[in-house]
Amino acid sequence: MAKSSAHGGFHLLTGYDEIREAASSGDVFSSYVHGLGAADVVAEDAGSDDNPPPRAPLFEFDGQSHLAWRRILRPYFTPAAAKRHEPLIRRLCRETLARFVKDGRADLVTAYTQVVPPLVVAALLGVSESGRELLAEQAKRLVGAETREEAEERGREYAKLLLGHIRDRAGASRGDMLSDVIHADIGETVNERQVLRFASLMVAAGQLTTTDAAAMMALLLAENPDLRDRARDSQKVLDDFIEEAVRHEPAVAATGRAVTRPTALGGVLLDAGDRF
Ligand code: HEM
Repeated sequence: MAKSSAHGGFHLLTGYDEIREAASSGDVFSSYVHGLGAADVVAEDAGSDDNPPPRAPLFEFDGQSHLAWRRILRPYFTPAAAKRHEPLIRRLCRETLARFVKDGRADLVTAYTQVVPPLVVAALLGVSESGRELLAEQAKRLVGAETREEAEERGREYAKLLLGHIRDRAGASRGDMLSDVIHADIGETVNERQVLRFASLMVAAGQLTTTDAAAMMALLLAENPDLRDRARDSQKVLDDFIEEAVRHEPAVAATGRAVTRPTALGGVLLDAGDRF
């Protein structure tokens, strides 16, 4: 375990056993890490140290409540669910590529890998087709903010837009992520702030990861023309390349937990409030 004083201080776990222990002990190592993470720049939702924001369903719950939320949202993450979305994703990819293919060149990140993922996540959330472009555009603007002030200002606009979609889905029957979360029956009611936090984390989880993964894959293919030719000529090579690239060039280098009570991990003593 290493320790850094950056960003308010955090530990870094690198051992398999320690990571496994932390990942499976939500009562001591909580997924609710206040003060870090994508949802904290969505200003209406940021709270303060004295009044931290409420936990986002799924992402920030631990133990049995976490499992209950997983049961509710699992149907969106099965291979069968991915298959159902494939026609939409292929259509979005083709439409996006068609915008620049005649130019013969493009910045593949800003013109392609940043464009498709937020549109797909917006569809999963249940945002109507006419609202997806604007949501995707604002999500992209938020990620592009260069200062905390800029991020907070863009975060406020983004929160307003997301809240509109949440209110829209509150009156809808279930069958998309937002209305399933709003109407979930797990013995606790979720309030609008929690749904907003859930939605902003879901856009971040689904967008930043796949944007970066696809960008890394495009770069690998551009730098290895031989691999690019083989992947173009064989579906099997392409499938293997995607699987291996996700492992070899991970889009997420680390994930966080907060310590809830004094404990030891990997021979290091940790206090309540410590983060890694
Ligand atoms: C290459 C793509 C992706 C990578 C590398 C990735 C990586 C991760 C990582 C490292 C975690 C944290 C696990 C933990 O803290 O225990 C996570 C959680 C999560 N991701 Fe992804 N992710 C990807 C794509 C997506 C997409 C496309 C979505 C949604 C559309 C998504 C939704 C989630 C959710 C909901 C969680 C929380 C799960 C839970 O708490 O049980 N991810 N992901």
